[in-house]
Amino acid sequence: MNIILLAPPAAGKGTQSAFITSKYHLKHISTGDLLRCALAKNDEMSSYIQNEMNAGRLVSDEIILELIKNELVDESYDGVVLDGFPRNLIQAMKYEELLTDLNQTLNCVLYLSIDKEIAEKRIVGRHTCPNCKRIYNSMVEGQKSLEEGICDDCKISLTQRSDDNQQTFDVRYDTYMKETSPLINFYSEKGLLKTLDASKDPNEVFLEIQKILDSIL
Ligand code: AP5
Repeated sequence: MNIILLAPPAAGKGTQSAFITSKYHLKHISTGDLLRCALAKNDEMSSYIQNEMNAGRLVSDEIILELIKNELVDESYDGVVLDGFPRNLIQAMKYEELLTDLNQTLNCVLYLSIDKEIAEKRIVGRHTCPNCKRIYNSMVEGQKSLEEGICDDCKISLTQRSDDNQQTFDVRYDTYMKETSPLINFYSEKGLLKTLDASKDPNEVFLEIQKILDSIL
């Protein structure tokens, strides 16, 4: 089963990917995470990637397709959950070609719909423990740390992604509207799109996702 999570920044793609992969035997592929790993190389390409991410723009299709190709070939899973890919029509069409080459199909596109104001709060409030990787959110009830800015378990300072600020959020959201949102129609016309209200509690969103995935298994 191959699934795409299509959504604006902070709609919960990463959160729902974790739920989905723990219940179904699927591989989580996040292009955002792959790019953040590529930054560690500290070469010319990583400085280009860092610039684009910090500015909230899309990284070139060429780099993304090279990263994704290697990840798709993994027979130890029953499919993939794509988080943050495809992000424009070129990537969507290239993904179709890659699937054809692999003799596979796309089963479902989960569109996590959310208002800009809610997404903005989630981005600005998101902090992570650099040690245990637990995610906190100072703007979301139930996700705050006990002491502001400190991990409950590790007792060390939380960090924030360099693109999680108001200014970059605005560009990320505009980039999503311009480049990625046309994919809603693209996949709707193929009969693959399922829309979910991502402003609900994460567990409620996952219940809805399970109903959809169980019906296509
Ligand atoms: P990427 O890392 O993919 O970032 P994003 O799409 O902006 O998404 P986020 O990771 O910020 O949010 P999310 O939807 O995963 O939400 P999360 O679950 O974390 O991309 C970063 C950059 O990389 C891009 O800007 C671009 O430059 C580049 N890039 C990546 N892919 C690319 C591609 N294919 N092509 C070109 N460039 C690419 O949740 C967010 C917060 O909300 C958390 O605090 C969470 O706890 C909370 N939360 C989640 N769900 C709920 C809920 N239901 N209720 C309350 N709180 C919730």
